[in-house]
Order: sequence, then structure tokens, then C-alpha cells
Amino acid sequence: MARIIAGIGTSHVPAIGVAMDKGLTATPYWDPLFKGYGPARDWLAGHKPDVAIIVYNDHASAFSLELIPTFLIGVADEFPIADEGFGPRPVPVVKGHPELAWHMAESLILNEFDMTIANEMPVDHGLTVPLSVTCGQPQEWPFPVIPLCVNVVQYPPPTGARCFKLGRAIRNAVESFDEDLKVVIYGTGGMSHQLQGERAGLINREFDTAFLNRLTSDPQALSRLPHTEYMREAGSEGVELVMWHVMRGALGDHVREVYRHYHVPASNTAAAIIVLENRSAA
Ligand code: DHB
Ligand code: FE
Repeated sequence: MARIIAGIGTSHVPAIGVAMDKGLTATPYWDPLFKGYGPARDWLAGHKPDVAIIVYNDHASAFSLELIPTFLIGVADEFPIADEGFGPRPVPVVKGHPELAWHMAESLILNEFDMTIANEMPVDHGLTVPLSVTCGQPQEWPFPVIPLCVNVVQYPPPTGARCFKLGRAIRNAVESFDEDLKVVIYGTGGMSHQLQGERAGLINREFDTAFLNRLTSDPQALSRLPHTEYMREAGSEGVELVMWHVMRGALGDHVREVYRHYHVPASNTAAAIIVLENRSAA
């Protein structure tokens, strides 16, 4: 049986990817952030997952306002790197896991989550930056990836509570796959940030810290935060945090926080990474 061994929550700020691609990670601005990724990278390299599910949002790269899937799963053999305006990032192509992805699509849809299915899709910084910060700069990514997109770009995004329930359904889907696979699930985006308007640059360390704390201790109540609370407290793009509830919902009731790092600023954003081991599956 396949099982989810851990969840990783991480920001997916594009400038973090650019800093890696341009060899700037040891500069005074970036060094404190990148030092903080080391232990999470070591944890991941030590646990060697067979596949990762990466929950992220497309930023009008694969989709435009013409087509807005609320929840989508990628079932392709591979996913090319999106050109976000400066050419594709110089990172390896993302290999998929079509067998598990199709099994998940069937299980999720028959369990009443109406997923869009992507047979072809470029992946943008929302997916590639989390891979870069947790895997470094290898020739090939160390595991195949199942992209799972959530719309947080165009109102209305799904609620955090719905995202948490999707996580639960993902866990059931994974655990009903016959092959013995170790799966890690990423929730990406956040933390507090607002990229436009009068409050551009908003950062709320108190909100972010409480969010990280409650992810371990009180996840279901946390998932019921309304969208307006993210807007007010974490800025308009802080609503990306609903994707972390998919990750947390896919873990059991009992998790152990094995690592956390929080740093301001990364571009206009508060950046965090958290690693949660799933004790329920042990
Ligand atoms: C930025 C973009 C993002 O998608 C994000 O999640 C955080 C920051 C940016 O453009 O700085
Ligand atoms: Fe984003």
C-alpha cells in the first residue's frame, strides 16, 4: 500500500528560484533564507520519497482567465517548465507518475471531488520553486511529481475547509493504491503577502506564526478561517495558504513538526518552510 509519510509547507516566491538559477544564494540578502532550507533538504534526502504530490496554484501560466479549474490533477508522463516571461527556468523537466495520478483521479472523482484532469500542462514557479528549495539543483529531480492545482487567482477560490477535505480524500486515494510507495505531499504559497494595491508589501509575522503553530495542533479549526480573514490579516495573496490545508488534511490527526524556518523578507513576501511527519501512518 502507498502511504503519505510527511507534508511540507513552503512558500513558492519566484525570486527565490531566480536567486538559485543565478547563483545568488550566498549573497547577504539571500543567505539567511537559504541557510534555513538546509535541514529540510537533509530530511527529504534522508527519507527518499518515491513520489511527491505538489499542491500549488498556476499563476496564469498554463491557464488564463479563459479557463479556471478549481481543482486539477496532472496525469501526464512529464510536465514542461513554463515560460513566465523570461524563458523557462533552467531546471529539469518534471516527470509525472501517471499510474498513481490516474488512480487518484478515479478515487477523488468517485468520492465526489470533481477534479479537472490535465494530460498536458506546463508548470510554473508555484511548483518548481518548492522543488528547488527542497532538492537543490540536481540534473534530474529525485522523484516523480503529481501536480495538483488549486485556483487561488480568480475569486472565488475554494474554502480552506474544502481544501482540508480534499486532503482527506487524497489520503484515502493514496492508501488504496496497491504498490508500496512512500509519498510526500507539499502545500505551497503564502505566507503573508500582498503584491498590489494600497497595502502592497504587507507582512504579518504574528498571523504567520500562529498559522504554523495551529497546523500541527489545531488543523481542522484552522482550515475554517474565512477568506476575508486571510485578506485582512495576511494580505490579498495570503489566501494561497488555503493550499496548505490540502497538505495538512492528507496527513492524519497525529503529526510531528520536525522542522520550521521563517524568514522576512523574500521579495515582498514572508517565506516559510515546515516539515510535518505523519505519525498516524506509522
Ligand atoms: C510573488 C509571487 C508569488 O506567486 C508568490 O506566491 C509570492 C511572491 C512575487 O511576485 O513576488
Ligand atoms: Fe504564488
